Amino acid sequence: MSRVLSGVQPSGDVHLGNYLGAFRTWVSDQHRHEAFFCVVDLHALAQEHDPALLASRTLETATNLMAVGLDPSVCTLFVQSHVPEHPRLTWLLECTATFGELRRMTQFKEKGGENESVRAGLFTYPVLQAADILLYDAQRVPVGEDQRQHLELTRTLAIRFNHHYGETFVVPELAVPEVAARVMDLQEPARKMSKSLSSPLGTIGVLDPPEDIDHKVRRAVTDAGTAVVYEPLTKPGVSNLLELLAAANGGDPKELAPGYTSYSQLKRDVSEALVELLRPVRERHLELAADPGHVEAVLANGAAKASAVAGATLDRAMRAIGLLAPRGGFSV
Ligand code: AMP
Ligand code: TRP
Repeated sequence: MSRVLSGVQPSGDVHLGNYLGAFRTWVSDQHRHEAFFCVVDLHALAQEHDPALLASRTLETATNLMAVGLDPSVCTLFVQSHVPEHPRLTWLLECTATFGELRRMTQFKEKGGENESVRAGLFTYPVLQAADILLYDAQRVPVGEDQRQHLELTRTLAIRFNHHYGETFVVPELAVPEVAARVMDLQEPARKMSKSLSSPLGTIGVLDPPEDIDHKVRRAVTDAGTAVVYEPLTKPGVSNLLELLAAANGGDPKELAPGYTSYSQLKRDVSEALVELLRPVRERHLELAADPGHVEAVLANGAAKASAVAGATLDRAMRAIGLLAPRGGFSV
């Protein structure tokens, strides 16, 4: 069975962009592949974070992943920092990547690459991500469109390592959904919906109650004119709503457009569709939140399963690059 790996940062509330861009694919992938999903808490350290909140956010993010439908009896769900192979492989890969490659990463540039006081970890962030993926021999990485460049770098590093040190890593493929690969902020449709940057009104949380979802959709910024057409460049607001409708109910955003004669009609249907889409997520979350010990047990089990796979890959990579193996191997 082929392997899948993906990750999410525990840096805030899980939103509709995460759900449609990534988690829905994770949920279907877990039945078709051997799947590993991690909460990437080490990545969260690359930007300003609140140490008093990080641990609880990590647990909450894992709880949300189970609420959206990850089933620990068929997939491996774990926390990145619980598996020490991740930072260990990162060093090897950092000595494979170049300064120029990392400097060109758009996420680094957007999040403060020009600023002298930016954390060095933000610069090397994509290398840690490459380690996350390569440790599991993942063939497939289901993510939103914003991760395309990071995946390209991962492929480059894997190919380079294999070339210099012998076949060690599987070269992974990106998997982005056909619709809603890039969900936009409802208030600023030129910007992607995100945990850190968006306005509260522009972001729909997966746990938002129905009245909040309805309020946010009704207040969504639409575009000049009154026609409902799918044209992301000239009509980003309306096009985003059409994508949300298509993602929630199925169908093609372009073909859905002619069925509407007004923005308010479209918003009503989008609101209903999203409320129904997220209803089971809220319900499952209520049950899971009542028993945090259960989620912690799932994570402990996940870390043990992940470590067994990651340890073997790390050992292979350390030997391939020429390090002296200790008795018993590198990953004991
Ligand atoms: P993050 O919250 O940045 O850790 O992202 C977790 C996953 O959600 C990644 O696969 C992202 O590509 C995806 N994602 C985040 N924001 C969006 C968005 N606005 N639209 C689609 N996918 C997204
Ligand atoms: N950088 C990704 C994001 O911000 C999160 C991530 C970390 C990830 N490691 C990963 C995604 C490995 C896929 C695979 O969304």
